Amino acid sequence: MSGLFITLEGGDGVGKSTQAQLLEEWLTAQGRTVVRTREPGGTEVGEQIREIVLHHRGDIAPRAEALLYAADRAHHIATKVRPALEAGMVVIQDRYIDSSVAYQGAGRVLAGDTIRDLSMWAVDGLLPDLTVLLDLDETAARQRLDAAEKRFDRLEAEKAEFHARVRAAYLDMAATDPRFIVLDAAREPEAIASDIRARVEQLLG
Ligand code: TYD
Repeated sequence: MSGLFITLEGGDGVGKSTQAQLLEEWLTAQGRTVVRTREPGGTEVGEQIREIVLHHRGDIAPRAEALLYAADRAHHIATKVRPALEAGMVVIQDRYIDSSVAYQGAGRVLAGDTIRDLSMWAVDGLLPDLTVLLDLDETAARQRLDAAEKRFDRLEAEKAEFHARVRAAYLDMAATDPRFIVLDAAREPEAIASDIRARVEQLLG
């Protein structure tokens, strides 16, 4: 595969979309063809699954939730991401497998390894070249979400302990896997963007 696959990860309210946009603008200005996408969603089927997992009223059994995210991912990677990478494009993706390990694994307290295996099967083993983890403590992240005044989705509405487990799981994954860079999301967006660019420049050679 000749393209570059970059994922952005972190809790809710850490600024992933802002960074995805800044990175897209910079890469486009360099003449790269960029596909910017997200999970859940990113395809027509995915947007329907997104509606269920984020806005269904009432409970969804934790394993069903994990399977819905995995189904979204399977379709998204097969129909959009893999073809783009094969065509040499740069894919900037908001959330991927690590979100499932953090939210369904640590958050919902399912076995993280099983969740990872499920997603790895769903995408036939595709891992990102780079994963940017934007790290922010839960209180600051919650303040940003409150300030945005949007309606909380099912995951955002979870308690502080849930989000603390999600954050810890992300940091654990990043500590042992060189695919990650961890950036302090409390800094100015432009400072964060510059660190991301430096790493992407290395990868593009
Ligand atoms: P996101 O699109 O980042 O939310 P927003 O549009 O509000 O910025 O993500 C939606 C939610 O889905 C987020 O709370 C995390 C959750 N999620 C999982 O629980 N597991 C997953 O595998 C993915 C991709 C997302």
